[in-house]
Amino acid sequence: SREIEGDLTEVLVTEQQIRDKLAELARRIEADYEGERLLLVGVLKGAVMVMADLARELRSHVTMDWMAVSSYGAGTQSSGVVKILKDLDTDLSGRHVLIVEDIIDSGLTLSWLLGNLASRGAASIEICALLRKPDAAKVEIDVKYLGFDIPNQFVVGYGLDYAETYRNLRDVAILAPHVYS
Ligand code: PRP
Ligand code: MN
Ligand code: MG
Repeated sequence: SREIEGDLTEVLVTEQQIRDKLAELARRIEADYEGERLLLVGVLKGAVMVMADLARELRSHVTMDWMAVSSYGAGTQSSGVVKILKDLDTDLSGRHVLIVEDIIDSGLTLSWLLGNLASRGAASIEICALLRKPDAAKVEIDVKYLGFDIPNQFVVGYGLDYAETYRNLRDVAILAPHVYS
């Protein structure tokens, strides 16, 4: 198989920076949810890496569940059309829910997801996102636990894909235009 590095222009967030940031967020989450039964809801597929690493940083009991929603398909632009491909297995009644996402781009996915989960009787719903592109926002999302604000460029790695590839890159990097243009 082909090497990834030649498809990238610049590493934006390194593996080490991600690790340090998730440790910092985990300390806040532990403190904020002390004594509560926290449910982490990962948004497939992009959030797989963040979920795996954040969950392992937490020293308190948590449960994990997954939703698969997709708005991007194979392209680079959000269509705003969100589909549930896999719903939660967990009843949210009375639960403290923390949605775990890799990135807030336009905000349309999380805006839709918050609306969808809001009617399920959770005790609280908050968001943890590793990345956010402030200049790409179409809707404002209230994110309680944020890793990094990044410029409005097409980034891949650490769960983020272009056409389902690059998710296994350990850093977050800018995809070279020659790859998608
Ligand atoms: C990506 C990313 C976020 C969402 C952010 O998911 O993982 O979930 O887009 O974009 P938005 O803020 O503009 O809605 P995608 O739909 O590509 O599915 P994936 O996680 O399976 O890659
Ligand atoms: Mn996603
Ligand atoms: Mg994607």
